[in-house]
Amino acid sequence: MADDDFSKQTKVLSDIELERLKIQDTRKVSEYKANTLEIEAKKNWDLFYKRNETRFFRDRHWTTREFQDLLNRAECTERVLFEIGCGVGNFIYPLIEEKLNFRIVACDLSPRAIEIVKNNSKYNPSCMHVFQADITTKHVFTQIEESSIDIATLIFVLSAIHPDKFLSTLKNIYKLLKPNGILLFRDYGLYDMAQLRFKAGHKIADNLYMRQDGTRCYYFSIEYLGHILKEIGFEIASNTYIHRRTINKKENIDVPRIFVQCKAIKPD
Ligand SMILES: C[S@@+](CC[C@H](N)C(=O)[O-])C[C@H]1O[C@@H](n2cnc3c(N)ncnc32)[C@H](O)[C@@H]1O
Repeated sequence: MADDDFSKQTKVLSDIELERLKIQDTRKVSEYKANTLEIEAKKNWDLFYKRNETRFFRDRHWTTREFQDLLNRAECTERVLFEIGCGVGNFIYPLIEEKLNFRIVACDLSPRAIEIVKNNSKYNPSCMHVFQADITTKHVFTQIEESSIDIATLIFVLSAIHPDKFLSTLKNIYKLLKPNGILLFRDYGLYDMAQLRFKAGHKIADNLYMRQDGTRCYYFSIEYLGHILKEIGFEIASNTYIHRRTINKKENIDVPRIFVQCKAIKPD
C-alpha cells in the first residue's frame, strides 16, 4: 500500500482488539460521573500539573519538521501564534529557542500550568501573552482580538474537551484567526493503542474515555475531524493519520501509536 493510502486508512482491528472494544461497553461511566468530570475539568487538569509539574510531557522538538508553516517566511514580519491548551509550554518554548518570528499568545485551562509557563527562565512578557482561559467559552475574547491570529495550534488539546464543546471551541478559534490564518492540529487517532487499552469502567461515549486521574481523552477519525472543521467554515489543506512508535529502551517499551494531523485554513 502506498504511504498516502496508509495515512488515510482507519486501522483494521484484529479479533482480539474488537473483543477489547466490546468489553469496554460492558460497564460505561455513569451519567452522573460523566457530568462531574465535565464540571471538574479545570480542577482535574490543575491537579495533574500539581502532581507532575514539568515532568510528564516532553518538549515537542518535532513541530517545525511536521508543520512547515511554522518556519520563517522571508516575506513576513512578526506573526502571531496562538497555542491553545499550552500546558507547561512544551510546544512554545522549543519554538522560541528556534528564534522564529512569532509573537506568542498562549492559554490553558489550568492556572497552575500557566504559572509554570511564566516561571520558565525563557518566559519573556515583552513578546509573549500567556493567560488562563477555557477555550470552549467566550472568555478568550477578553484577551485576544478577533481576526488577529496568523497561526493557531491545537496540540493534544481538543481530545481533552467534551465532544459537545468541539464546535464552540473551533468557532472561537475560527473567529480569532485572520483571513487566510491557519489552524495546525495534532491529536490522538482512532484505535490508537491507548484507546484499545482502556478497561471496562472508563468509556464515557463513542471514542471518549476517562483516565484514572479524571482527565478525559477523545480519539479522532480523520473523517469526523474534517467534518466538524468544514462545518465551522474551515478549508482542509491536509488531514491524515500519522503512525509512530513510542520507544523506551530502558523500560522495554516499543508500541505503535496513531495520531491525527491536520492543517485547516480560514478562507479569505
Ligand atoms: C495533553 S495536554 C497538551 C499540552 C500542550 N499542548 C503540549 O503539546 O504539550 C492538554 C492540555 O489541554 C488543556 N485543556 C484542557 N481543556 C481545556 C480548555 N477547555 N481550554 C484550554 N485548555 C484546556 C489542559 O489543561 C492541558 O494542559
